[in-house]
Order: sequence, then C-alpha cells, then structure tokens
Amino acid sequence: MINVVLLGPPGAGKGTQAKFLEETFGITPLSTGDMLRAEVAAGSTIGRKADAIMKAGQFVPDDMIVGIIAQRLDGDDCRSGIILDGFPRNLPQAEALDEMLKEKGLKLDRVLSIVVDDDAMVERITGRFSCAKCGAGYHDKFHRPKIDGVCDDCGGTEFVRRADDKAETVRARLEAYYECTKPMLDHYGKMGLVSSVDGMASIEEVSEQLKAAITKELNVD
Ligand code: AP5
Repeated sequence: MINVVLLGPPGAGKGTQAKFLEETFGITPLSTGDMLRAEVAAGSTIGRKADAIMKAGQFVPDDMIVGIIAQRLDGDDCRSGIILDGFPRNLPQAEALDEMLKEKGLKLDRVLSIVVDDDAMVERITGRFSCAKCGAGYHDKFHRPKIDGVCDDCGGTEFVRRADDKAETVRARLEAYYECTKPMLDHYGKMGLVSSVDGMASIEEVSEQLKAAITKELNVD
C-alpha cells in the first residue's frame, strides 16, 4: 500500500501524473477539484457553495474539503493506496489529514512536489481540455489526441474546458496556492516526507521521475 500526496501549483501536472501513477502502481487518485466539480454539476448544497469560490480562483472552506475527503477515504478502492491530488493545500488541511490517517491506522508515505515555472502555467492551463464522456485530459499544444477531435481513451468526440481555466482566474489561483502552501511544505519537510521533481520536463520525463521517487524511496517494484 502506498499513500502519496501530489503537490504543485495549478497546471503543474498533478491530474496528468495522478493518472499515470494509478496505472503504474494500482493506487486510487483522489482529486478534490474533481470531487468539487462533480458536486457543482450535481447542483448539491456543497456544489452551490463551491461554484462561485472556484470560479474566482479561491480556496473553498477547509471544513468542506476535509469532510469530502474523510468520507472518500473509507471507500474500498482506497485500500490499495491513494494519490491525493489537490489536497491538502494548507497547514490546517495537512494537520486534518494527519489526524484522519492516524484514526484509520494509515500513514502518508511521501509528498511528491512538482516544481514548475509559474509563467508557463498560464499557457498550460488555458490550453487544457478534456473528453466530455470519460474525462481524459488533453492540451492544445502539449498533449493532443492521436486523432484530432477523437478521445484516445473512449472514442468520444465532445470536449470541454473548465470554467476556472480562464487566463484572468489562473493568476488568482496561483496566488492562493503560494500564500497557503509554504507552511504546509515546511510541515512535511520536517517529517522528512518531501521529494521534489522537475515539472518543467516533458510529461513522460516527469512520470519517470515520479516513478523513480516512489520505487526508490519506498522500495516498491
Ligand atoms: P484543482 O482541480 O485541484 O485545480 P488546480 O490545483 O488548480 O490544478 P489543476 O487541475 O489546474 O492542474 P494540474 O496540476 O492537475 O495540471 P494538469 O495535470 O491538468 O482545483 C480547482 C479548484 O477547486 C481550486 O482553485 C479551489 O477553488 C478548489 N479546491 C480544490 N481542492 C481544494 C482544497 N484542498 N482546498 C480548497 N479548495 C480546493 O495539467 C495542466 C495541463 O498541462 C494539461 O493540459 C496537461 O496536458 C498539461 N501538462 C501537464 N504536465 C505537462 C508537462 N510536463 N509539460 C507540458 N504540458 C503538461
């Protein structure tokens, strides 16, 4: 069992790499962004509260996110390990995660920090789109479907872009990220859990770095 946090600013490649780690190590990705977007799409109470906050590029309240994750961690699919993508994002969330894992007799094995150049993130995010049917992620420039207009994974022909992927919102998301993340990184640094990878390398190279970090440090084949 491997429990890891994927850390990095908006556009760093967390979602892209979470999919790779799921396929490579058979562990379950838990993306708080995806969970919130599902709540918004369902029109739930949480979704109605989160919608405007997300569109403004701000963080939703900690108790909302911690509640969502606490419920999700009990899923059967989490027993073989988890990749946390987008959670925790600040020190209170990191401390809440420590408590939750402890209560469940689990531990965090590694915090994988994807280090990127902020200026490149606007291009990455504004060029991103995904399959409307299966959610597979693509990019106008860096990761196009093999056949234009057809999803590699499911053959779907409709694609969508996220409401918060507009250039003006990206800066707010980057600011919100950096304002809250440093104390959390220090927290995990003191626990000796952080491994950094170069997120400016190609998608395949970043995948290899992450795979090597997990394989080497956790001694997993
Ligand atoms: P969330 O959905 O988590 O968004 P984010 O953190 O802003 O991250 P992104 O999904 O934008 O980027 P990513 O790192 O996954 O990059 P991706 O792999 O797609 O959160 C959205 C919102 O929800 C937040 O703003 C907040 O409001 C709320 N929220 C969520 N969690 C919360 C929490 N814990 N607390 C409070 N609020 C919370 O890659 C981006 C693009 O680049 C893709 O097109 C990809 O193909 C391409 N790409 C990836 N890697 C590379 C590479 N190495 N080279 C070139 N292109 C690449």
